[in-house]
Amino acid sequence: MNFLSKLKDAGIFYRKANTYKDVENNDLADLIYRILEDKEHSCSFNNIEKVRKILLKDEKVLNIIDPGAGSNKIKDHLRTVKSIAKTSLSSKWQCELMSNIIKEFHCETILELGTSFGVSASYLANANRHGIVYTLEGSEPIATIAMQTFARLNIKNVRLLIGDFDVTLPTILDNMDDIDFAFIDGNHRYESTLKYFEMILEKSHSTTIIIIDDIYWSQGMKNAWNSIKNHPKVTATLDFYNFGIVFFNKKYAGNHTVINSKYKIL
Ligand SMILES: C[S@@+](CC[C@H](N)C(=O)[O-])C[C@H]1O[C@@H](n2cnc3c(N)ncnc32)[C@H](O)[C@@H]1O
Repeated sequence: MNFLSKLKDAGIFYRKANTYKDVENNDLADLIYRILEDKEHSCSFNNIEKVRKILLKDEKVLNIIDPGAGSNKIKDHLRTVKSIAKTSLSSKWQCELMSNIIKEFHCETILELGTSFGVSASYLANANRHGIVYTLEGSEPIATIAMQTFARLNIKNVRLLIGDFDVTLPTILDNMDDIDFAFIDGNHRYESTLKYFEMILEKSHSTTIIIIDDIYWSQGMKNAWNSIKNHPKVTATLDFYNFGIVFFNKKYAGNHTVINSKYKIL
């Protein structure tokens, strides 16, 4: 997508954006308030951010074969750790929000598609030390750095699977009863995103939360997000521009809300 289309999308998003106060469904408004306003700061989060800072300065060169749709900004196969850290990792704000959701719903079985250097996975793991985070990464050199991240942070409740999602996702799903929380953050293509969503749906229950990253990243991702919003099992969605949250819980039914204004995250 070119710059003008992105600017137009961002403009439309900001015009439509609400705060939790504009959400008619009280249960959903309360939830948005709690996950956004939770000011509980964990010192583990500071440690994760210290690791992010180290990655952002790391000039090591990795030989990457991107198994997904790739970065919009970096096309080379030789990439420095710092350039990947700058363009691929979820923001601190988004990671904190995801971790608040895990705490709110007491999620125990957590799945992430797209580990990268393990920054978001560390937040997810830290949100519930009694839960398990299954995180999938296709690039070996990148996964090696993720393992160093988990070791640095002494995170024990992460299981990292290396390989293409097409292989690792069915394998992991076969060994799971159900999923409480899933974060789809890799291979941002229309067909792949819908395929992963449908597979995860098979193991979802009424309080499962699925987060889809980069829902305005390309026309394909915008179409995928619209298809997910219209899926018969989806009861409500929250559109935060950089990512979308999907609910199956009937108590939020009928709410497809664009959330921002006060909480700008661009
Ligand atoms: C955006 S990054 C993940 C960022 C990470 N969740 C974070 O916020 O810290 C996406 C990752 O998914 C991986 N990936 C993309 N497509 C994949 C596929 N088909 N199979 C396995 N890994 C894939 C890429 O190698 C990349 O490291």
